[in-house]
Amino acid sequence: MHSLSLLLLSFCLSFPSLEAGHWCYDSQSINCGPITWKNEYPTCGQNNQSPINILTKKAKLDRSLAPIIFKGYDHVGTEPTWQISNNGHTVTVKINGHIAIEGGNLPNTYKAVQFHYHWGTVSNPGSEHKIDGEQYPMEMHIVHHNEKYGSFEDAVKNPDGVAVLGFLFEESTKNNEEMNVLINALQLVSKTGNSSLLKPFALNRIIPDHEKLKKYYRYRGSLTTPACQESVIWTVFPEPIPINKAQLDKFSNRLFFEDSQPMTLNFRPIQKLNGRPVYVSDSAVRLFNVAWLSVILAVLISM
Ligand SMILES: *[C@@H]1O[C@H](CO)[C@@H](O)[C@H](O)[C@H]1NC(C)=O
Ligand SMILES: [Zn+2]
Repeated sequence: MHSLSLLLLSFCLSFPSLEAGHWCYDSQSINCGPITWKNEYPTCGQNNQSPINILTKKAKLDRSLAPIIFKGYDHVGTEPTWQISNNGHTVTVKINGHIAIEGGNLPNTYKAVQFHYHWGTVSNPGSEHKIDGEQYPMEMHIVHHNEKYGSFEDAVKNPDGVAVLGFLFEESTKNNEEMNVLINALQLVSKTGNSSLLKPFALNRIIPDHEKLKKYYRYRGSLTTPACQESVIWTVFPEPIPINKAQLDKFSNRLFFEDSQPMTLNFRPIQKLNGRPVYVSDSAVRLFNVAWLSVILAVLISM
């Protein structure tokens, strides 16, 4: 999602006099913040943009939204081949090793390419998606591209090109020990342009149990950073990831924007739905029915 912007960023760094291609969040400057993105990137002003506020009562039940199948999410590597970097907008981890998702009514298998985060400040929430108007402290995006396209850059030009999984965080009193590998690595990439290598860890460790991911929201939208391509099949899980306040604060304390200001409030505001449907999976309902069916069967058998 951010490789293009990284390219543009390095371009701007080498030619500081050229303003074209420069974008930022309002926390850096309102002159290059989200409402200005469409001037340089017209797609950012189109009708199928992300993120959105998900109204749970208006979500349409879709029985074809089976559980997502996670492939290679348990993969662990011994050689440091994942690249963590500060691209000036977020911390992103470029991943490899046959990690993919399918099922969940996705039209194909989608290969994982990177994950990254959006957050607020030590006192403000910073998720991109909202649920019933509530903004969460942080949001993780795991970005995948349709394997029928050779690369993310090709995939992002197509309406079925990209599948992003969105995970929301909630503050907890307990440390989320599974997040420590990542949080400890933040200090290696505190400045824009810094990068470092990590040993691949199981992605399952940093997301909720698959059982709790059967319920999700689905809609068609866009990348939430320029050029805002409308190529994303969004899956947003309401089951939050717990994180301790001290852990959360390390994102705003250890990472810095290009201008050396603390990296904070790096989320895009919610966008208009413009009549797009939002669907909800029905796994929970089906489980409930299965439970009742077995009660009825048990009663029948006992008669
Ligand atoms: C991070 O980037 C800064 C500024 O470019 C540089 O001075 C520093 O050496 C980099 N640190 C690492 C660990 O790469
Ligand atoms: Zn994102």
